[in-house]
Amino acid sequence: MPRRLAAATVLLLLSGAPASANEFERVRPVTNDATRKECGECHMAFQPGLLPAGSWTRIMDGLDDHFGEKASLPPGPAAEIRAYLTGNAAGRGDPALLRITEQRWWLREHGFRPEVWLRKDVLSKANCEACHRDAARGLYDD
Ligand code: HEC
Ligand code: HEC
Repeated sequence: MPRRLAAATVLLLLSGAPASANEFERVRPVTNDATRKECGECHMAFQPGLLPAGSWTRIMDGLDDHFGEKASLPPGPAAEIRAYLTGNAAGRGDPALLRITEQRWWLREHGFRPEVWLRKDVLSKANCEACHRDAARGLYDD
């Protein structure tokens, strides 16, 4: 998405919310090839630092029914990805929640009017790149 649009989005949505320092402004980009490939097929490959290890474990345990999709992997890549995600996981967050978009810190940063999520250029809360144009590089501070 062009930068102008992203900036407009932020202006539109912020409406006076205080800018606060956040440890998630920058997360380390995905450096594992298997993760980039297998977990980047249907959506951006989410960075391991966005969820605690317990959430990643549960996601990897449930790939047969992954938010309604079948995302199962052969044992080799599955083990590699599991080790990478849990080994580089966030130090905070609720491991009982599978979604980044259900984590308390995420909800705090994204308390927008409901119609925002229905916009054609957004469509899903998980579509980070609709608003964070450098999300794939782990940059969320724009
Ligand atoms: C076959 C397609 C597919 C593959 C492959 C896939 N996913 Fe997903 N994933 C989805 C769908 C669909 C959703 C739900 C998206 C939504 O709510 O808009 C999702 C959501 C997620 C979410 C939650 C996003 C949120 O709302 O916070 C995480 C985390 C996630 N996937 C991780 C992974 C990981 C890790 C892998 C690789 C092991 C992977 N996905 C591979 C389809 C896939
Ligand atoms: C509809 C637009 C939109 C979507 C979709 C969206 N965000 Fe955001 N996000 C924002 C806005 C606006 C802010 C607050 C302004 C800012 O600090 O950049 C924000 C803030 C953040 C922050 C805090 C950044 C900071 O500076 O402290 C993180 C991290 C973040 N988002 C991650 C994500 C992730 C991960 C996803 C996808 C799972 C996502 N966002 C989806 C608009 C969005």
